[in-house]
Amino acid sequence: MNNYTHLTINSIGDWFRFFANECQASSNIYFQLSSKIADNEKLCKLAAHARKGQPMPNLLFAAVHYLLLQNSTHQLAQYYPSIYKNGSPKAVPFSVFQNFCEQHETEIKHLLATKSVQTNAPNRCAYLMPIFVHIAKQHPDKELVLLDIGASAGLNLQWNSYHYEYSNGQKFGDAASGVKIKTKIRNNSADFNCQSFPKKVTSIGIDKNPVNLYQEETSLWLKALIWPDETERFKRLSAAIELTKKQDPEIIKAATIDEYDYVVNMVPKNAILCIYHTHALYQFTSEEKAAFWQWIDKLGQQRNELYYLAVEGIKEMRNRYETDDIVIELNSYRNRNKKQQLLALTDGHAKWVDWKRVL
Ligand SMILES: C[S@@+](CC[C@H](N)C(=O)[O-])C[C@H]1O[C@@H](n2cnc3c(N)ncnc32)[C@H](O)[C@@H]1O
Repeated sequence: MNNYTHLTINSIGDWFRFFANECQASSNIYFQLSSKIADNEKLCKLAAHARKGQPMPNLLFAAVHYLLLQNSTHQLAQYYPSIYKNGSPKAVPFSVFQNFCEQHETEIKHLLATKSVQTNAPNRCAYLMPIFVHIAKQHPDKELVLLDIGASAGLNLQWNSYHYEYSNGQKFGDAASGVKIKTKIRNNSADFNCQSFPKKVTSIGIDKNPVNLYQEETSLWLKALIWPDETERFKRLSAAIELTKKQDPEIIKAATIDEYDYVVNMVPKNAILCIYHTHALYQFTSEEKAAFWQWIDKLGQQRNELYYLAVEGIKEMRNRYETDDIVIELNSYRNRNKKQQLLALTDGHAKWVDWKRVL
C-alpha cells in the first residue's frame, strides 16, 4: 500500500531528517543521502510505498542495498564499503543515488511494499554469554534451557559457538570461530570467568515471524538492513548466518501467551529454564507487555527455579532505572521468591556494556 495518501511529503521529509541525525555517528553514507532525500519530493514519494507502520528511511536504504548486493555493477556500489572493500563512503554523489533509484524504481517499490525491518544482532551475545554462563554455574548438574522470545533468525541461539573479545583484554569461546563478538566494557573492573561454556544447554527460539535463513533472499535482506559503512557488523552478521545455517537451531512460530505456554510446558520440570528477550518487547502493545509479565510471574510461582532476562529500551524499564540506555535486567525466581536486578546498561548494538553487578 502506498503511504503517500496518509502522509504529507513534509512529514516524510522530516522522517529522513530525523534518520540523518540518528545515523550520523555510524553511517556517513546514509547521513549524507538522508539529508538530501528529505528535500527531494520524488524520492520521498518512492519511500512512501513502504507498508504502514514501517520506518521508511530504513526500508528505502535497505531496498537499495539489497539490490546492490544482488548486482554490484551500478556505479553506486563503488561507494558501499560492504560491497567494495575500498568503497569510499565519504562523498556519495546524490545524482548517482537518484539515478540508481530511477533505474530500479519497480524493484524498489516491490521491496518496499513486501519487506519489513526485522533485524538480528549477534553482537548482543556480548552480554548474553556471561549471564548464561553465570546462571549455568549455579546449577552445574542440571540442564539449562534457554528460550529466546523474538529470536528472529536465531543468530543469538549460537552464542556458545562464537568468539568473544572484551576491551579489558578478556577473551573467551572458540578462537577459530568466524563470528567475532566484540564490545567495549565501560567499567574495566568487570571480570568474567567464562573459560568454559556449559555442556548441558539447549537453546530454543520463538518468533512471531521466524526468519528462514535457507531462503537466499531472506539472508540477503538481513544483510541489506546493515548500514553499508558498518563493515565489522556486516562481516559478523554474514559469518553468523553461515554458522547458524549449519547448526539449524529450532525456531518455533509463536506469538501469544498460550503458544509460549505450550512451548514452556515441553521443558522438563527439572531443567533450569531461562526465558529471555532482546529488543523484542518494544513491538508489543502495552496490554501485551502486561499480559507477558503476568505470565512470567505465574511461571515463577509454578517452577522452583526460573530466570527471566529482559534486555530492552522500553519506557517501563528505562523509567525503573532512570536511564536513556538499554536496560539489562535479570529476574530470578527461587522457591517462588522473586529477585529483580539491574545487571548492566548498554547501547542498541552492544558496542559497549556498562556492568552494574559482578557476575
Ligand atoms: C528487533 S527483532 C530482535 C531480534 C533479536 N532478539 C535480536 O536482538 O537480534 C524483534 C523480533 O521480535 C519478534 N516479535 C515481535 N512480536 C513478537 C511476539 N508477539 N512474539 C514473538 N516474537 C515477536 C519479531 O518478529 C522480531 O523477529
